[in-house]
Amino acid sequence: MSPDAPILEVGNLEKSFGGLKALNGVSFDLHPGEILGLAGPNGSGKTTCINAITGVFRIDGGSIRFAGEDIHHRATYRRVRKGINRTFQVPRPFPGLTVHENVLVAAHYGSGEHADAMTLLEDTGLAEFADKPARTLNSSQQKMLGLARALATKPRLLLVDEIGAGLNPEELSAMAQRLRGYANQGMALLVVEHLMDFLDQVTDRLVVMDAGNTLFTGKLAQATEDPRVIEAFLGG
Ligand SMILES: Nc1ncnc2c1ncn2[C@@H]1O[C@H](COP(=O)(O)OP(=O)(O)O)[C@@H](O)[C@H]1O
Ligand SMILES: [Mg+2]
Repeated sequence: MSPDAPILEVGNLEKSFGGLKALNGVSFDLHPGEILGLAGPNGSGKTTCINAITGVFRIDGGSIRFAGEDIHHRATYRRVRKGINRTFQVPRPFPGLTVHENVLVAAHYGSGEHADAMTLLEDTGLAEFADKPARTLNSSQQKMLGLARALATKPRLLLVDEIGAGLNPEELSAMAQRLRGYANQGMALLVVEHLMDFLDQVTDRLVVMDAGNTLFTGKLAQATEDPRVIEAFLGG
């Protein structure tokens, strides 16, 4: 693979739930070291996109290429092993396991390469809670745990689902810096987010979805002036 080849290419993704077309032709690509923002109104298909890329369900049509290989038929654990992981919009720790155990379980998912759990907890500011049950964490700490769990499998592609929601301004800019740090080390990130200020801090390239379609792809500064984007956010 050439150094400027995209690590992720999705083309014309389609996914229906019953009669509802949640994805109706979504396409974009993402390069190593790049953070791509993914925005769009509620229900536009952002989380479905992450679920499709990680293999939570099979897509009905389109293609998903990771590091040059078609992966759309691969099981989730195989995609994790290849270097894809994600965080969840609503964090889903095992509430009765300790914080440390939560990261250990994640690290061994797929039995691929994994990071040291304690080092990750130190890095994400959770070391002091290592032996506490995950249910005792507050919501921003649970978000950090979700991130630590995703990082535990050493992803080359990290899909981040609305990690900014509920964080205070200080936590938001720390999170933005953190994500940029991962990208600087070569990780590719897809950052699903509503908060434009946060996106502005982490990326300059944005995909905007509406009703399962790619409405806009380009510079964030241009998105906020695009009449179709304004209509999708304000008109709906
Ligand atoms: N597992 C599912 N079963 C049925 N409908 C779903 C499922 N996941 C998502 N949807 C529907 O697909 C559409 C897109 O949802 P989602 O991807 O969660 O949107 P977003 O993350 O952009 O808010 C919504 O109408 C949602 O209700
Ligand atoms: Mg969502």
